[in-house]
Amino acid sequence: MRGITKNIKYVGVNDNEIDLFEGQYNVPNGMTYNSYLILDDKIALMDTVDKTKTVEWINNLEMFLEDREPDYLVISHMEEDHAGSIERALNKYPKMKVVLNAISLRMFGQFFDIDISNRTLLVKEGDTLELGNHTLKFIMASMVHWPEVMFSYEENTNTLFSADAFGKFGANKTEEDTIYSYSNTDKVDWKELWDDEARRYYINICGKYGPQVQVVLGKLSTLNVEVKTICPLHGPVLSGDLSHYLDLYDKWSKYEPETDGTLIVYGTIHGNTEEAAKELFNMLKEKGKEAEIMDIARCDMSEAISKAYKYKNLAIVCVTYNMSIFPNMNLFITMLKEKNYQNRNLAIVENGTWAPNAANVIKKSLGELKDINIVEPIITIKSKLNEETKKKLEELAENI
Ligand code: FEO
Repeated sequence: MRGITKNIKYVGVNDNEIDLFEGQYNVPNGMTYNSYLILDDKIALMDTVDKTKTVEWINNLEMFLEDREPDYLVISHMEEDHAGSIERALNKYPKMKVVLNAISLRMFGQFFDIDISNRTLLVKEGDTLELGNHTLKFIMASMVHWPEVMFSYEENTNTLFSADAFGKFGANKTEEDTIYSYSNTDKVDWKELWDDEARRYYINICGKYGPQVQVVLGKLSTLNVEVKTICPLHGPVLSGDLSHYLDLYDKWSKYEPETDGTLIVYGTIHGNTEEAAKELFNMLKEKGKEAEIMDIARCDMSEAISKAYKYKNLAIVCVTYNMSIFPNMNLFITMLKEKNYQNRNLAIVENGTWAPNAANVIKKSLGELKDINIVEPIITIKSKLNEETKKKLEELAENI
C-alpha cells in the first residue's frame, strides 16, 4: 500500500536486521525508516533513510519517479536514521534543491562535506513551498526531539509530515501495514498494533521533552485545519480517526497516566523480594485493581519506563544492595528522572537483612520529583515476608 493519496507515495523501507535502535532500544520486530514522495508539477522528496538501506530506498523512489527527478529534498530531521542517504540522493539528483531550516543547515555541515550553497532553500516557521496542487507549510518542532526538527503540513490533502512524532518501533509486516486507519467501531486491536510500541518509542526518545511537544501540538490546533493523515518517520502512516493518536500524545506530553492502574517493578536477589512483589500484585488483583508486574533485572528496561508512564501508580519493591538499591533498579530510577517522570503515586517496599536502606534511596531519588505522591505505608521487610508485613502490604494495596 504505497499510495497514501493519489500523488503522495510511501517510499520508506523496513529494517529487520537492526539489533538495537539508537544503539540501545530492543526492536524485536525491526524498524521502519519512512520517506515520502509528493508528485506534482514539482516533486518533493520528504527525507531520506538510514545509510544501510540506501539502495532499497532509491529503488522505491525510481518506482514512482519514472524519468523525472525530485525538485526538492525536504529535511525534517538531521538524525542519521533519516539523513543517512542524503549524500547519495544529492549526487544522484544534481538539480534537486535542499529545503531545510537554519539549524539543520548548521548540522548539515557537521555531517557532510558537500557544498550545497547553490541548491539550498532555507525555510522558517510558517513559510510555504508551492508544488502545483500541493502546498507545504513548515512548522518548527524544536526539541521533538532534536532542535532542528521541522514538521511539514500539506494543505491540499491535509497531510502532516510529523518527523519522529507519532512514530513507533517495529517494521511493517506487510504492505497493508504501511497505513493504519483507526476507527472506534472496528475490531482491530489497536493497542497491540500501535499504542504500546508508540508509547515505548515516545517516552524513551521524546519523554524528556513534554513541554516542547505541547508547544507543537498547540501550533497544530491554531492552524485551524483538520489533519486527515499523519506521515511520521517511523511506523505506519496514520489515517481515519486521528483523535486516538492525538489524545495519547497529549496525555504523554502532559505526563498524564493512561489508566488508574499500578505498575509493580521489583528487584530481587534470591526471590524473597519477588515473593513480596507478587503478593502485592495478587492483593491488588483481588481488590479488582488493574496491575502489571515486572522484574527489573529481566524485563526490557525501555518497556518498564514506558509502562511507568502508562499507569497512575508505581510500586517499587526493592532489595537493599551495597547500602543502596539493586543496580538495575538504580538504572530504572535514573532513566525515569531523565525522562521527567512526574505526576504519579509512588509506593515503596524495601527489603534488607541487616540494614535495610532501599526505601530511603528511592524516596530521596523519586520523592523530590514534581507531583510525586508517596503512598503510605512505606514497608520494610526483614529478609522475608511475615504476618506483620503481609498485613502492611494489604494496607498498601488498599491505599494504592
Ligand atoms: Fe528517527 Fe530522531 O530519529
